[in-house]
Amino acid sequence: MTPQPASGDPAAPLLLFDSGVGGLSVLGKVRKLLPQAPVMYVSDNAGLPYGNKTEAQITARVSGLLGRLTERYHPRLVCIACNTASTIALASVREVLEVPIVGTVPAIKPAAAMTRTGVIGLLGTEATIRQGYVDRLEAEFASDKRLLRHAAPELVAAAEAKLRGEPVDPAVYARAAAALRAMPDGDRIDTVVLACTHFPLLEAELAAAFGPGTRFVDGSDGIARRIAFLTEGQEWPSPEGTDRGDIALFTLADPADDSLMPALLRYGIATRLVF
Ligand code: DGL
Repeated sequence: MTPQPASGDPAAPLLLFDSGVGGLSVLGKVRKLLPQAPVMYVSDNAGLPYGNKTEAQITARVSGLLGRLTERYHPRLVCIACNTASTIALASVREVLEVPIVGTVPAIKPAAAMTRTGVIGLLGTEATIRQGYVDRLEAEFASDKRLLRHAAPELVAAAEAKLRGEPVDPAVYARAAAALRAMPDGDRIDTVVLACTHFPLLEAELAAAFGPGTRFVDGSDGIARRIAFLTEGQEWPSPEGTDRGDIALFTLADPADDSLMPALLRYGIATRLVF
């Protein structure tokens, strides 16, 4: 895809979409490259988790929501900051929306370049690890490596809890590490693909669970670079004293529950609404 012409409206936001807080791991990287960009962060928490849903459910949900959101808010670009939604619904969403769409797919290519032992672990949701999209990435970039996949849905819940400031039982990290290590050749894993955007939010905890010598990789740096490339030359709001108008939209939210506000504020978002 070639860069789109500037939308003309400097206030047009970048729309980042996830089933929950996972997309904030992508937003963190986008902020570093494009600090002046207005952001609309959308959490489909009414549909969380996506990982245990069918392909048809996820495609219908993501296409429907993104259709309504783009019609209403006219983002200059949409980033599906969710591996589950991207590996399943990216092609369908691209078919129906006019706006540039950037997806998030498992970082198997960089992992294949990083591994020294040739054994790569991959943590994702149940839905992501069974996708043909992942088989194709493996065949294209890691056919001479061993890729061990493990679904770790409880890490999604752990990331949601952590960002709300709730305690998380460290056994969840130990279980994810132990499951990969227990697979044939799992003891030789030196690189782990965090193939769910919730998981980089737990990298320190996972690093402690895997022990020294294991490196982690996710797609967020590449996504941020791609968004910067696709919006190159476009106008942004003037930085002087203006509020960029960042906003978080939740598909389900109790107005009295502000437990996520401190986390959202760390990513520069002070306004939270229900969509
Ligand atoms: N953050 C999502 C991903 O990247 C999925 C979490 C979920 O809803 O199961 O896959």
